[in-house]
Amino acid sequence: MDFKGQHILSVSQFDRPAVEKIIAVADQMRPYAAREKLSQLLSGAILGNMFFEPSTRTRVSFGCAFNKLGGHVRETVGIENSALAKGESLKDTAMVISGYSDVIVMRHPLEGSVAEFAKTSRVPVINAGDGTNEHPSQALLDLYTMSKELERFGSTVDGVHIAMVGDLQYGRTVHSLSKLLNLFNNVKFSFISPSQLAMPADIIKQLKDNGQEVIETDHLESGLKDVDIVYQTRIQEERFPSKEQADAFRGAFRINRFSYSQFCKPSAVVMHPLPRDSREDANELDTDLDQHPNLAIFRQADNGVLVRMALFALIFGLENKLAETETECSWRSL
Ligand code: CP
Repeated sequence: MDFKGQHILSVSQFDRPAVEKIIAVADQMRPYAAREKLSQLLSGAILGNMFFEPSTRTRVSFGCAFNKLGGHVRETVGIENSALAKGESLKDTAMVISGYSDVIVMRHPLEGSVAEFAKTSRVPVINAGDGTNEHPSQALLDLYTMSKELERFGSTVDGVHIAMVGDLQYGRTVHSLSKLLNLFNNVKFSFISPSQLAMPADIIKQLKDNGQEVIETDHLESGLKDVDIVYQTRIQEERFPSKEQADAFRGAFRINRFSYSQFCKPSAVVMHPLPRDSREDANELDTDLDQHPNLAIFRQADNGVLVRMALFALIFGLENKLAETETECSWRSL
């Protein structure tokens, strides 16, 4: 796959070599992300960072990734603060913002909206989450994290056993990650959720058709048996028809020191796309695991910057120009 000038809208556009390329370029970004060196790779370029839904990690890490490559960031945050609130169409917004930007990152609450926007955009567009549909850069950083965490135990993503837990119906990160993992061999999926929040049937079918082993259960203890990765998710309250309907599922599958030590093997790595719900009645991932060495959630969030830097370098076709555009970081040693 040639990334140059391409939109990144769905993980379905990647094959395995493309994913491996992103991981390799993300590895190259470490010294620049850590500010050991400064990069001017995208000096003068402008990112239009458009978030029409709440975000902390994705918005800020995309912005930081662009800044760390020497580019500038311009943002729109919230539908209510944009001309969409005055009735402007996504098509018109795309025409306008793509005239101001060299690349656009967009999050929007409606499925398919980012792809629709990209049809009119004159510059590449990256999907930062479209409703319940997809979150491709999150899946890439999840995969990158899995690969690094498994390496510590001498394992690989091929042959991994992953449990995805919680709201698998509305959680777009688990949709994208499942499709991405389907590029790997002999992946075993344990989907642990209430039956009302099960993984969509079309994704289950794609996995099974590809020969992957799939278990669906609403039983946490048996579901976590022998897994290498526990991928916990939040109940996506904002996607339910009513708050009361979301409330019915809160705190149903808690990962905490007790459930981890009782049901998981000692090397199991715990991941979560974040945010985690810290309200007492929800609390799907307890803070009592925060000091556990296998809790990867903050390494996972950090990896978002590396992967997003890699995506930008690839979209601009500049991944081989990193060394020649680097400079010393004078302020870091002060
Ligand atoms: N993981 C994730 O998408 O987090 P934000 O909603 O904070 O961007």
